[in-house]
Amino acid sequence: MPRPKVYVTRIIPEPGLSMIKECCDVEIHNSKEWPPSREELIEKVRDKDGLLCLLTDKIDAEVMDAAPNLKVISTYSVGFDHIDIKEATKRGIYVTHTPGVLTDAVAEFTVGLIFAITRRILEADKIIRSGEWNKPWNPFFLVGPELKGKTVGIVGFGRIGVAVAKRLSSFGVKMLYYDISRRWDIESILDVEYADLERILKESDIVTLHVPLTKGTYHLIGEKELKMMKETAYLINTARGPVVDTEALVKALKEKWIAGAALDVFEQEPLPADHPLTKLDNVILTPHIASATIEARRRMAELAAKNLIAVLKGEMPPALVNKEVLKVRPLEQVKMI
Ligand code: GLV
Repeated sequence: MPRPKVYVTRIIPEPGLSMIKECCDVEIHNSKEWPPSREELIEKVRDKDGLLCLLTDKIDAEVMDAAPNLKVISTYSVGFDHIDIKEATKRGIYVTHTPGVLTDAVAEFTVGLIFAITRRILEADKIIRSGEWNKPWNPFFLVGPELKGKTVGIVGFGRIGVAVAKRLSSFGVKMLYYDISRRWDIESILDVEYADLERILKESDIVTLHVPLTKGTYHLIGEKELKMMKETAYLINTARGPVVDTEALVKALKEKWIAGAALDVFEQEPLPADHPLTKLDNVILTPHIASATIEARRRMAELAAKNLIAVLKGEMPPALVNKEVLKVRPLEQVKMI
């Protein structure tokens, strides 16, 4: 049997790339920073059996139609909103992702953002650098709320939401969570209470988002929801930009419906430097780096490679997104290695 042909849309950390090269003929878009253009992507997938893509690559019906041999799309990300799953399943294409391996990185970063925004860490740093720390110590300078005793609302209680709760449980906060399914198992271990979204928004001092982007979560947080939040509350988003209506959030931050926000993801990425959000003091902006630990990025590459290779070997991949594909095109039929 010929070796499978695989297109990798970016240089990814080792050992991921070497693992794929061992058993496949790999063509790689030779850049660490830039994705292939749409035209290039469509051209390169034409004769490929496997595609390893990033969250910046939109993989829709047009791309799949250009690749009649495609058996697997392995995304180097936990989120898969950039891939049309229905279209992939219809064509018998296996879609895999990288859950679990970045959970700790994202949870650590989320907790970091909570502290950074409430304790005004970036503002404080700026004040020193700009020479504004020109008066002696005073009791009112740069004060912010203490976390202990506050209510944190976790919206989306999957792997990452739970990992955030685990970390926060040592800070003496009250935790509410919302998810489409009730997590009785976790409730009995962690001190978390199930609540609907409205109660979370109304009662929380910090609302942190950990839902995937789907039709149901698009603009989950809009004007109505932001108006339900306390004036003293903070919004944290390390999930996906479109979960929050940016225009409404800018209004909320400008008009002080809420105290502040810390955002790692945006409806438009990269976020332009002149975006209205960048003009606001009560917001912290980071460029989609919640999973950016050396360890997580290496593990993501490894898992993305394992997923891709498993499908081409006709084996069950460790993290299959579209389980229904098993009925459309059983694994024996995609086996090449
Ligand atoms: C990052 O946002 C990911 O989905 O892995």
